[in-house]
Amino acid sequence: MKTEILKTKRGTKKIVEKIYSVLINGWLVAFPTETVYGLWANALDEEACKKIYKAKWRPSDNPLIIHISKAEDIKKYGFVEFSYVEKLIKKFWPWPLTLIVKKKKNIGTSVSWWLDTVAIRFPKHTLALKIIEKCWFPIAAPSANSSWKPSPTIAESVIQDLDGKIDIIVDGGTTQVWLESTVLDVTWKFPVILRHGSITKEMLQKIVPEIKNTMNEEQKKKSPWTRYKHYSPETPVKIVTKTQRESIINDIKKYKNACYVWIRIKESNDFIFSFSSKKTLAKHLYSTLRKCDTYKIETIYIEEVNEKDIGKALMNRISKSAWIL
Ligand code: TXA
Ligand code: MG
Repeated sequence: MKTEILKTKRGTKKIVEKIYSVLINGWLVAFPTETVYGLWANALDEEACKKIYKAKWRPSDNPLIIHISKAEDIKKYGFVEFSYVEKLIKKFWPWPLTLIVKKKKNIGTSVSWWLDTVAIRFPKHTLALKIIEKCWFPIAAPSANSSWKPSPTIAESVIQDLDGKIDIIVDGGTTQVWLESTVLDVTWKFPVILRHGSITKEMLQKIVPEIKNTMNEEQKKKSPWTRYKHYSPETPVKIVTKTQRESIINDIKKYKNACYVWIRIKESNDFIFSFSSKKTLAKHLYSTLRKCDTYKIETIYIEEVNEKDIGKALMNRISKSAWIL
């Protein structure tokens, strides 16, 4: 299949029309959101959604998020059972907060497998919202990458993984938030964070103080994401704790030809990739991991960060990239 690469500069109206016609025909398109690039299909078209799993080698029991362009549409596809959900929607939508609710009958098994729930998100990206508004159906969209690889924050990463496998890739530049949305299960009396993201526990707690940070066994079973390898470059990743730092550096010095990349916070010339804050590390993490694969190196070392605020989401992604499930 020949994949068409489109630049968003081409004109809003033309892009909206074109993407709409691709989706309505049951085809796939990669399009940016404020977090990462998504691989879009008509969420009410079972056959189209099945193509998503094939294109990105996604296990069929790992369900998709559906994207809407109006907060009230959550009730078209799911049930809002607790009053705190309305408060969260009012405060955080549109923004990277995905809500898991009990699903309605119009959501098929290609979207959310045999679960009785569906993940719903109202993204904040002007052009993406224009397209979703034009569609009378919600958009199913996982991140637009091969399942186990780092998520795409630039169009080049999508091209690496999906060129020749989908109909259109829209190049809309670098995304704004860089980590995928926070996934929050709101089917319980107190909401449970299933995936940490840039909307942090601290931010959510201001609206619902009883928020839960860890999943019990039943909740883990209902969160397929926890079972699979994610965010991993081809090169092995090792996490470096503060206490290990000096000894690992000494070890590396012993091997003259040892090739490594060290990723850390704090500007420094000694290291190949260093970032001034957790926020800038978050911005560049996925593209840096992908870049490392283009060098001939043995190991990528990443220094751990503290888990305050966005640090929790960052350590979660870093651990997964190091294969710690
Ligand atoms: O920022 C984002 O969320 C991006 C953009 C494109 O919107 N999307 C994204 O989708 O990260 P994906 O598929 O890569 O991650 C969604 C996660 C999956 O790992 C899945 O396990 C979880 O959400 N999920 C989806 N539906 C679920 C459900 N009904 N119950 C529990 N977890 C669910
Ligand atoms: Mg993903």
